[in-house]
Amino acid sequence: MAAASLGVMVVAVLLGAAALVAAAGKFDDVVQPSWANDHMVYDGDLLKLRLDANSGGGFVSKNKFLYGKASADLKLVPGDSAGVVTAFYLSSGGDKHNEFDFEFLGNVTGEPYLVQTNLYIDGVGNREQRIDLWFDPTADFHTYAVLWNPSQVVFMVDDTPIRVYENATSRRGHHRHASSGGNSNTTSSTPAFPGPQPMAVYSSIWNADDWATQGGRVKTDWSHAPFEATFREVRVDGCAWAGNASDSDAGEVARCTGSSWGKEGRYWWKEKEMSELSVHQSHQLVWARAHHLVYDYCVDTDRFPVQPPECAGR
Ligand SMILES: *[C@@H]1O[C@H](CO)[C@@H](O)[C@H](O)[C@H]1NC(C)=O
Ligand SMILES: *[C@@H]1O[C@H](CO)[C@@H](O)[C@H](O)[C@H]1NC(C)=O
Ligand SMILES: *[C@@H]1O[C@H](CO)[C@@H](O)[C@H](O)[C@H]1NC(C)=O
Ligand SMILES: *[C@@H]1O[C@H](CO)[C@@H](O)[C@H](O)[C@H]1NC(C)=O
Repeated sequence: MAAASLGVMVVAVLLGAAALVAAAGKFDDVVQPSWANDHMVYDGDLLKLRLDANSGGGFVSKNKFLYGKASADLKLVPGDSAGVVTAFYLSSGGDKHNEFDFEFLGNVTGEPYLVQTNLYIDGVGNREQRIDLWFDPTADFHTYAVLWNPSQVVFMVDDTPIRVYENATSRRGHHRHASSGGNSNTTSSTPAFPGPQPMAVYSSIWNADDWATQGGRVKTDWSHAPFEATFREVRVDGCAWAGNASDSDAGEVARCTGSSWGKEGRYWWKEKEMSELSVHQSHQLVWARAHHLVYDYCVDTDRFPVQPPECAGR
């Protein structure tokens, strides 16, 4: 009996060690530290980004991608996280970069986080929206994801779309932006859509107490440091860009963009049904916006006396 249970214990310890290695491996295959390496910390099968008085931290994906879906199972800084921002985002880099952002704005204990989303297209951002959440994002892991293809960029929280940015010219049966005369300044009225630049996936945590929490009025309380955001998984399912190719490589654009949707069934994020929300998802989006939207640049006439073109009809 004694020998048997010792055997069981040894197996359990070995399994534990294997799980640890697998955990590091699971993340190592996908991401690497992007700054302050010692502020990216493995804890069992979890990965943590840490902010203390010395530094924040971050990671970047090992590959770049053109189209696909990136997601993070993430638990945000618990307790007093005022002033602390955690971001999960895709960015192509460079002057004319595209970027899709989730920014989680911390708060004092018991007050709600805000989730800010933004898109940069050709280096221009200023497309902020903010929602609160229908759950406590510090209590458990939730999945935050961006789906990106030539027709739409969709921000999702636990599979519920919270924001969709459409390629207006690819919308079936509505070509209201087609420039066939009538409008003398079509350039300014045609909504931009992010072109085929490969993007890396990033996450970081930093001190943003000059703006993040209640408009910057509440500062980071360093007596509560370190602040840690915890990842259970980071997944990228997309067309990985060849490591040796430049960001504008025409062959890679052609390979990842393809002429047909869902070529060979491999690029599921480009399947026809991924080109717009399903009816069910549309209902979810309406629900999320009706109940949880707290800020939308599209209706901020102080900032934008002329409504941005992609906002038309809102
Ligand atoms: C077209 O729009 C741009 C950007 O708003 C503006 O600078 C330009 O003067 C406009 N041109 C005409 C012909 O209205
Ligand atoms: C937008 O959609 C149109 C029509 O499908 C497509 O030709 C174009 O390449 C798309 N734009 C971008 C920037 O992907
Ligand atoms: C923090 O809580 C306050 C009070 O409930 C709320 O007004 C604010 O939007 C919350 N979020 C942030 C990031 O300030
Ligand atoms: C990158 O490497 C692949 C495989 O070795 C090769 O086929 C391709 O031509 C290379 N591309 C560039 C831009 O060097």
